[in-house]
Amino acid sequence: MRMKNLTLSEKYLSGFITEQQRSAMRTEVVHAYELIKNRSGAGSSFLGWVDLPVAFDREEFNRIQKAASYIRQRCDIFIVIGIGGSYLGARAAIEFCRGQLYNRTKKDGPEIYFAGNSISASCLEELLSLCEGKDVCINVISKSGTTTEPAIAFRFFRMMMEKRYGEQEAAKRIFVTTDKARGNLKAFADERGYECFVIPDDVGGRYSVLTAVGLLPVAVAGIDITAMMEGAAEARRAYLTDGSPDNDCARYAAVRNILYRSGKKIEILASNEPSFTMTGEWWKQLYGESEGKDGKGIFPASVIFTTDLHSLGQLIQQGERNLFETVVSFDSDGVSPAVPYDAQNADEMNYVAGKTMCEIQENARMATVLSHTDGGVPNILLTLGKRDAFHFGYLVYFFELACALSGYILGVNPFNQPGVEGYKDNMYALIGRPGEKNQIKREALLKRIR
Ligand code: PA5
Repeated sequence: MRMKNLTLSEKYLSGFITEQQRSAMRTEVVHAYELIKNRSGAGSSFLGWVDLPVAFDREEFNRIQKAASYIRQRCDIFIVIGIGGSYLGARAAIEFCRGQLYNRTKKDGPEIYFAGNSISASCLEELLSLCEGKDVCINVISKSGTTTEPAIAFRFFRMMMEKRYGEQEAAKRIFVTTDKARGNLKAFADERGYECFVIPDDVGGRYSVLTAVGLLPVAVAGIDITAMMEGAAEARRAYLTDGSPDNDCARYAAVRNILYRSGKKIEILASNEPSFTMTGEWWKQLYGESEGKDGKGIFPASVIFTTDLHSLGQLIQQGERNLFETVVSFDSDGVSPAVPYDAQNADEMNYVAGKTMCEIQENARMATVLSHTDGGVPNILLTLGKRDAFHFGYLVYFFELACALSGYILGVNPFNQPGVEGYKDNMYALIGRPGEKNQIKREALLKRIR
C-alpha cells in the first residue's frame, strides 16, 4: 500500500479540544479558504506562493539548473549570503535532505556555507579564512537589496573574490537573487554583469523558498529541485484544489487556533531528527512573522528530541500549561543500524542489542508524546513519508498554506511584517546611515544608552 505523503493525527488532542470547538471553527476555516482563493484577504498582493508550484517561470528554472551545475563544477566552496526569508529555507532544505553534516560528507559538489545571517566578526573571519586557497562562488540573496547584514557580508566576500580573481573573473562567480528591478543590489549587479535571478513581487521573503531564493543553493547541493516542486504541487492539489475544511492542512490551522483561544500561547515544533533543526528555524520565521502582530500570535518555538528533553523537557512536562506541541516524524528514514551485541555486557545495554536505531527512536518519540500529553501538553502529530526533496516541497506548501489560513482565522494580515522595521531604524541611526532623520534619532538613542 502506498504511504501517504503526510498524515495529521489528532489522537493526542483528546481531552484538550471538544467537538463543539471543532465544528464552530469550520465556518472560520471555510472563510479563510475563500480569502485565499478569491484573493480578497489582507495582504492579498503577496499570494504569489499559492500557485508557484504549478506556475513558476520555467525559463528561469532551467537557468537555475544550469547555474547550479556550473557552480558545482567550478568551486570547492559556495557561499550563500542572505538573512531571514532569504536564508532559512535553503539551509533547511539542504539539511533536511542531506543531513547536518552535509559539508563533511562525500559528495560531488562544493561545500556550502551561509553568511550575512548575523553581525559577527568571528563568524565572518571563520568563513573568510575557510575560503583561503579554495575556489569560491557566491550567491547573494536579498529581495530589498538593501538589508544591512547581507550587504556588509557581500562587500567582504566580493572584495575577497575581486582581489583573488580580478573583477571580470569574479563576476562569473557571483550570482545574485533579488527583485527584478528595484534595490541597490540589482543596480550593482547590472553594472557588474552578475547573473541575476528574480524574487517575484508577489512572494514575501518567508514564503520564497520555492523561488530562486531556495532553488539555486538547493540545486548546488545536488538535490532534485524538480522533485521538490512536484512535492509542493502535490500538496497544493491535496490542500488547495481540494480545499475541504476537513483536510489535514485546514485541520492543522483550525486546531492551532482552538488551542490558542484556550490559553495555549506557545507552539513547540518538535522532531526526533537533528536534520530537521533548520526546518524548525524556517518554520519559526514563517509563523512568527506571519502571526505575531496586533497584540496577537502563537509564539513559535522548536526543539529536537531527545536532545532537548535533557534541557527543556522539565519545563515542557511541568511548567506553565500554556504550550502545545506539533511533532513531526517520518515513515521511513533510510538505513538504520542495529545496536551491536556485546558478550561482556559491562554497560548492561544488551537489552537493546539487535534493536535498530529507528525502532529505538520511535519508542523515544512515543514515550515523549505520552508523557507530555499526560503532563497537560496537547500534541498534534504530523507524519511525513520520507526525508527527501519531494517531501520537503510537500511540507513547505503544507506549512505555508496552513500559516495563511491560520493567520486569517487569527484575524491578522499574514503577509506583512511591520514590526521588523523597529530594530532596523534604530540600527541605521546608531551605525551612522546618512540622512537627517537618522541623525536626530541617533542623538536621541545615544542619550538613552549613555
Ligand atoms: O520575510 C521577510 O520578509 C524577512 O525575513 C526578509 O526575508 C529578511 O528581512 C531579508 O530581507 P531581504 O531579502 O530584503 O534582504
